[in-house]
Amino acid sequence: MTASPLHRRADYHAPAYRIDRVHLDVNVDTTTRVHARLTVVRDAATASDTPLVLDARGLTLDRIQINGEAVAPEAYRLSDSTLTLNRVPAQFTLDTVCTLQPEANSALEGFYQSGPMYCTQCEAHGFSRITPYLDRPDVLARFSVRLEADATRFPVLLANGNRVDAGALEGGRHYAVWDDPYAKPCYLFAMVAGDLACVADTFAAADGRPRRLEFYVDPGNEGLVEHAMQSLKDAMRWDEDTFGLVYDLDLYMVVAARAFNMGAMENKGLNIFNAAYVLASPETATDDSYHAISAVIAHEYFHNYTGNRVTCRDWFQLSLKEGLTVFRDQRFSEDHHDADCERIDQVRNLRAMQFPEDAGPTAHPVRPDAYQEVNNFYTATVYEKGAEIVRMLHTRIGPAAFREGLRRYLHEHDGTAATLEDFIAALSAESEVDLSPFLAWYAQAGTPRVRLRRHWDAARGVLQLTLQQHTAPTPGQPQKQPLPIPFRLRLHDAGGRAVPLPEHPARLADDLLWFDGETLTLEVPHHVPALPTCLQGFSAPVRLDADYSDHELRRIATRDEEDAFVRWDALQTLQARAHAGLMRDDRAPLTHLLQALQNVAAQPPSPALTARLLAMPPAAVLWDGCDAINPTAFVTALDQQHHAIAEALLGPCSVWAAWAPHQLSRWGERALGNLALSYLARLGTPVVARLASERVQGPNMTLAAGALQALCRDGGAACEAALSLFYSRWCEQPLVLDRWFALQAGRRQATVADVQQLLAHEQFDWGNPNRVRAVLGAFARDNLAAFHTAEGYACYAEALARLDARNPQTAARLSRPLLGFRRLAEPWQTLQRDTVASLRGRVVSTDLMEMLDAALA
Ligand code: TRP
Ligand code: ZN
Repeated sequence: MTASPLHRRADYHAPAYRIDRVHLDVNVDTTTRVHARLTVVRDAATASDTPLVLDARGLTLDRIQINGEAVAPEAYRLSDSTLTLNRVPAQFTLDTVCTLQPEANSALEGFYQSGPMYCTQCEAHGFSRITPYLDRPDVLARFSVRLEADATRFPVLLANGNRVDAGALEGGRHYAVWDDPYAKPCYLFAMVAGDLACVADTFAAADGRPRRLEFYVDPGNEGLVEHAMQSLKDAMRWDEDTFGLVYDLDLYMVVAARAFNMGAMENKGLNIFNAAYVLASPETATDDSYHAISAVIAHEYFHNYTGNRVTCRDWFQLSLKEGLTVFRDQRFSEDHHDADCERIDQVRNLRAMQFPEDAGPTAHPVRPDAYQEVNNFYTATVYEKGAEIVRMLHTRIGPAAFREGLRRYLHEHDGTAATLEDFIAALSAESEVDLSPFLAWYAQAGTPRVRLRRHWDAARGVLQLTLQQHTAPTPGQPQKQPLPIPFRLRLHDAGGRAVPLPEHPARLADDLLWFDGETLTLEVPHHVPALPTCLQGFSAPVRLDADYSDHELRRIATRDEEDAFVRWDALQTLQARAHAGLMRDDRAPLTHLLQALQNVAAQPPSPALTARLLAMPPAAVLWDGCDAINPTAFVTALDQQHHAIAEALLGPCSVWAAWAPHQLSRWGERALGNLALSYLARLGTPVVARLASERVQGPNMTLAAGALQALCRDGGAACEAALSLFYSRWCEQPLVLDRWFALQAGRRQATVADVQQLLAHEQFDWGNPNRVRAVLGAFARDNLAAFHTAEGYACYAEALARLDARNPQTAARLSRPLLGFRRLAEPWQTLQRDTVASLRGRVVSTDLMEMLDAALA
């Protein structure tokens, strides 16, 4: 297949033509007919002989008319990707008719079948798979849609905006007409046709006008919507209270889809969600799922302003909506849950996902310079690192100026497509701080490393603190510049209380430094003790390399008055040092870690925070700290460490694991109870089998999943029995069954043959991305020993090739575990590279090809 062209940010040109109005007339059926009527206007700056080039991906054309007159065959040309009209009037109506086969659309992009319903996914370029259009985010039009379908098969017909008409037709058919009063780019278009149950509620908005909220789910799932509905109301209230943003339409709809490539989609007034982020009950969903649901519901709701009312000029500006909206959903979660735990979880995920990306072959700036397939740039870097940049801006100017600055940005750019410069300019104007240096964060890939070194100058009686920043080269960016870093730093007096930093031009506040050069030196007078702590709340997305001894890290970890993130981070550093020590047969750092953990367990803070402090880092985080990795040695050290921690914490874990049901009525206690159970399981403690078997059958999925996971570590008969009980109880509930698949693919005793069996299981479904991710994702993430073998790589590559032929987006996203071979020792490095090279020869999609080529470059 021929390489697809590279899209460059520098090549941006304003559109030559505008589309002011769109009316779609859609006849929904196995063969769906789409009649589009567009009002097209040539831009004043466009020469009159400029052809109109519409995007038209894989479309066939049944009819084409300009101002009601058929267009002669020689006056237009339809290719696989475009519809070109050679000469067009300055303003005209274009009518096109296309037919689609939603049931044959396995890419889940455009108009496709999900379970029994049909729905759309248009971001980034799905709309041009539905009808010829200027498929770019800076073309904004007013849309109306008339849907017609069989009333029995498709009793529910939805599109964006307000339903202005509906009724029955002859022959058992019916129709609905929708009108969206807000101009939008086509990636926010949505329509749905299906037999869906509606759960409705109202929200008393701050302006006094009630809003109607509707969730559409498969009949039978009506009882699983309560949490998502409450989350939506909480998010709506939060945006009113925090930013003064009141929902604009009268109706807000959410549709739960079984087959969906990502988490959810913010289509104007008609969000479409992966059902995993809507449906929950205590019996079927874990606390983590509850949490993810409220975060994703909030995220999509917040897009209504940051993304929809103000959208992106081009896809290079994607973080303008995504980074900003992730920041907003993070703040919402911090306000609605435990803020400390929330922040710890955010940083843990950033380090597990984004840091490795930023250090690997697909590293890219938050605002990329070029792409082949834009779907490959919906990344942890654009989303999560993008959110960290917005957080730094917030830290720099403070919450009040940030609020007013965001309101100014939304007001100045309402109804338009903006750039990151526009956003930075609005915040700068409001705060009267020049924030333009932050644009370097958007332009430069790679995670800065910040060194903290202490030097005690006895003669002058001062402690010198030196900060130094350095960013390693990334693909295409050999040279790096220093970035502006808001660096929190605290000094402590003899009683352990924080004291203000000494006067310094870089000091922004009592505990905040503005670190924007290569180095910064601070002199602290002698009467302040020598243990500074830093990066409170993770004030910048950097790798901290501080010259703490293991002993000092222990002190920081157990300081009650210290920032929760800093305590957790000290333990994370000790965990990494312990693991690195074990790999070279040095147990000294492990000893410090165990003592620190025992001290924490002896004086535990809240159960939720204790669970986080005592947990091991995700393997991906430890992996990211290593080079020339021998996966076997890596896993062996991980197991030794896990075992040693379990032994050291046996006393407290025995208590927590045995908490009775009434003690487990809150999520923090459940988190700690599950962690305790998993440590005990590592020791093969007999009580585990009894507790766990009970909980697997119990009424709470958090406890059931925790117990099953603990048993799976153990292996043995209790595990097999629990798995089959779980299966027979939940085989009709796809979202719960996904857990069953993931647990088995990820457990340590699973062989490659076991994984292949899961892929061949009667309930495995290549058409359901959740199921595919459950098996392949867990295999590569949790079962390192089996994955990092010749058979493991081959099995994974085989699955990717198969998936690529039907769903390129999801295949490309799942390819990441195969791309980091430069980090591996031999023979794994060669094995994995060869696997990727041979897979490259079988790839059919640009999506997967671009990923593999980045790794092989
Ligand atoms: N814009 C969506 C969000 O972050 C995510 C998204 C982008 C998406 N492309 C998609 C979802 C394709 C599904 C399919 O909220
Ligand atoms: Zn988003």
